[in-house]
Amino acid sequence: MRVLHTLAELRQALAGTRCTFVPTMGNLHEGHLSLARQARTCGAPVVASIFVNRLQFAPHEDFDTYPRTLEHDCTLLDGVGCDIVFAPAERELYPEPQGYKVLPPPELADILEGHFRPGFFTGVCTVVLKLFNAVQPGAAVFGKKDYQQLMVIRRMVAQLALPIEIIAGETRRADDGLALSSRNGYLGNDERAEAVWLSRVLLGLQQQVSAGARDWAALERQAMETLVARGWKPDYVALRRQADLGEPRADAPLVALAAARLGTTRLIDNLELPAPG
Ligand code: PAJ
Repeated sequence: MRVLHTLAELRQALAGTRCTFVPTMGNLHEGHLSLARQARTCGAPVVASIFVNRLQFAPHEDFDTYPRTLEHDCTLLDGVGCDIVFAPAERELYPEPQGYKVLPPPELADILEGHFRPGFFTGVCTVVLKLFNAVQPGAAVFGKKDYQQLMVIRRMVAQLALPIEIIAGETRRADDGLALSSRNGYLGNDERAEAVWLSRVLLGLQQQVSAGARDWAALERQAMETLVARGWKPDYVALRRQADLGEPRADAPLVALAAARLGTTRLIDNLELPAPG
């Protein structure tokens, strides 16, 4: 496995190869590695990127403290058969202020995560497009853990006619059900034990809907109240359509999405639900 830090080295190493690409911000866990293994099954060389993208962090967010563990990440990626790690310095990807940005449509990018993290998806789309231009992959793998991000990227690729297949990877979870996340490392012991409740609340929603509940707003409110009563500060718990994150309908497959803070750590999770019928 080669670890490359510059665009020039990357272009030379790839020389037109249609690889399968796994973009990450590093501090890798089993969720990231499962995407790299999935990429491996495509048969093309696998390129992973590790870059903590300042553009997608608000000034009050954790850009400075986001864990940077490049050496260990490379060992893990080597272990799952990754061929190239692209780990550019910030000045390599942003040698000058990034004035040109990708502005995703507000109906998709200003709701849910985008509502609570204004500009987040502009930052994500801009760096992902830039990484796509650098790597020029035939396919790229994104996790369903970041459900809205996956959808925003899919639409960007379609609308900008990028010749890249977007592949979705299932969310990997700890034994108790907590979705794996680099930010789980911020949790203290008590918080880690409590954190499982984000996924439990989503499972509760799934059970209620499958038992016939159809008052979506009441279900969302109850789920938020459960979290608040347990000491969380929820940003949202929402039932939406899988296809476009629009308001739920009984004849459409749904997804329950949640974002909430436990102490100072903000966690997100989601769970797909079949069409309630
Ligand atoms: P990061 O949070 O490092 O995640 C990189 C990829 O891993 C994303 O596609 C994410 O959905 C996936 N992932 C994270 N946790 C997962 C889990 N538990 N199971 C399966 N997949 C999981 O997402 C980003 O970085 C950035 O926004 C990025 C796309 C790299 C742009 O900067």
